[in-house]
Amino acid sequence: MTDGIATEDLGSLKAELVDSIAAAGTLADLEAARVAFLGKKGRLTGLMKGLGALEGEARRTAGAALNEVKDAVTGALQARRDVLEQAELEARLERERVDVTLPARPRRMGRIHPISQTMDEMVAIFAEMGFTVAEGPDIEDDWHNFEALNFPPGHPAREMQDTFYLPDREDGAKMVLRTHTSPVQVRTMVSQKPPIRIVAPGRTYRSDYDMTHTPMFHQIEGLVIDETTHMGHLKGCLVEFARVFFDVEDLPIRFRPSFFPFTEPSAEMDIGCSRSGGEIKLGNHGDWLEILGCGMVHPNVLEACGIDSARYQGFAFGMGIERPAMLKYGIPDLRTFFEADTRWLKHYGFLPLDVPNVAFGLTS
Ligand code: DAH
Repeated sequence: MTDGIATEDLGSLKAELVDSIAAAGTLADLEAARVAFLGKKGRLTGLMKGLGALEGEARRTAGAALNEVKDAVTGALQARRDVLEQAELEARLERERVDVTLPARPRRMGRIHPISQTMDEMVAIFAEMGFTVAEGPDIEDDWHNFEALNFPPGHPAREMQDTFYLPDREDGAKMVLRTHTSPVQVRTMVSQKPPIRIVAPGRTYRSDYDMTHTPMFHQIEGLVIDETTHMGHLKGCLVEFARVFFDVEDLPIRFRPSFFPFTEPSAEMDIGCSRSGGEIKLGNHGDWLEILGCGMVHPNVLEACGIDSARYQGFAFGMGIERPAMLKYGIPDLRTFFEADTRWLKHYGFLPLDVPNVAFGLTS
């Protein structure tokens, strides 16, 4: 042995290594084979270290031979690793396969809150009549919440609403938590040209808390502006809404004169009910329940929003969400809406796939 490393030994080492690479059935086996030959204490590494003891030509020849083995083995390792990684990926894809053709299991999907459901139902009914949905911010300035709606500063009607005031905006504007969804009317008229036909569902706030009031509640606002809109359209629209929403046979509906600064004339809409036994039941039973306010948009409001009141007119309405939801779904206590009790939600909530739709029925 002149060069200190027998060529046959090297040949058999290489063969052994190539065999153990081919035999590795997993990435872990492959890594074990690599470490056994090429690791810090591996056999090939040991031979490499031995080179230092050789001189001149012998060292060069042995080095070249060892490098050749090393290169061949490194290539074989990489090729085997590619194969094993691909096999592992395929096994994993097979293991984690999801059958997207299986039907959904909506019972596991949580529940839609009755307030959301009710808003969706209301929107679905108005959408069927050609309304689109508009939105506005919960934090409003005094102009949108009051002034443009014909509540001048100091107007007594402002006192009707127990407003939550916020610190003034930098430009000095008085800020409030919106006391109703009516400011969305204003935003819509300022930003769109007639004809306008929108509904605006959303959160509203008043400083009030007892059996029948919560400081945060929900409303839906409606606004129609066109050249020939009249009180008959208002009545037709809201009567149709109530019949579809409550789905009660022979539901009496009446309009009673009322007052709102932003409408003239103004009305409230009542639906028939009975209150015997302390429980409200809808239908033709001789008693009445108020469900919304409405009227023809006041010319001052149109003008404040830049709409020519000599050419355009329209109607508006505003309705709470909680009360109709309680009536329709037999929910006895207003405050439970906001307790976030999952057992309550399981009982009163709706399945997520039951999206309200007038054509297929609002609730299934
Ligand atoms: N904004 C009123 C309220 O919160 C409800 C209302 C009444 C809205 C008449 C309207 C309307 O758009 O025309 O009490």
